[in-house]
Amino acid sequence: MTGKFITFEGGEGTGKSTQARLLASHLEQSGMNVLLTREPGGAPGAEDIRDLLVKGEPDRWSPMAEALLFNAARVEHWRQCIEPALKKDTHVVCDRFADSTMAYQGYVGGLTRESMAQLHRLALGEARPDLTLVFDMPATAGLARAAGRKDAENRFERKGADFHARLRQAFLDIARREPQRCVVIDASRAMDQVHSEVLHAVHSRLGI
Ligand SMILES: Nc1ncnc2c1ncn2[C@@H]1O[C@H](COP(=O)(O)OP(=O)(O)OP(=O)(O)O)[C@@H](O)[C@H]1O
Ligand SMILES: [Mg+2]
Repeated sequence: MTGKFITFEGGEGTGKSTQARLLASHLEQSGMNVLLTREPGGAPGAEDIRDLLVKGEPDRWSPMAEALLFNAARVEHWRQCIEPALKKDTHVVCDRFADSTMAYQGYVGGLTRESMAQLHRLALGEARPDLTLVFDMPATAGLARAAGRKDAENRFERKGADFHARLRQAFLDIARREPQRCVVIDASRAMDQVHSEVLHAVHSRLGI
């Protein structure tokens, strides 16, 4: 692989999509090849699965069914889009990836870390991001930001305050366990300050 694989993770409304876009344009303007993509989705079959996951009633899936659907979408996304891009010297900026499955369905959904890791190995082998930016802020403030967007993709946003508070701790624990891959970003600050912190992390960890 010659491109770098950068993922944005964290709770709802923390600014991941906003900052992933800003990072992708920054790298592009610096003359690099960049693919900006997102999960669930990012490939044709995976976008179909996305609708099953992000719309409808909050309890429509059990955590295991959800984890399998996310991994099914991820296999298609990885094989059709991410891996080919990385091989062609394109940096991939991905809005959510496997840590979200570990956090939502694993830590908060009650499935074990080991079962989530096994699923990941089955689906993707040893594929891992080169850098993961974990967006951290109080869950209620993130949800208030997300509520301002008024889109239909709000199934997870509607899961309740306790769910989201636990989610924040889950992402922090994931980051604590893999400090060489993960950088925690203070997402509560203004957009341009968060952007600077993102650029600093990318530069210091990956040299780009
Ligand atoms: N630093 C910031 N300060 C204030 N508002 C912000 C900031 N960053 C993003 N926003 C706004 O908050 C809302 C949520 O941002 P965004 O969609 O980027 O979050 P997200 O982490 O991708 O959310 P989700 O997990 O639901 O996809 C948007 O309306 C965005 O414009
Ligand atoms: Mg988003």
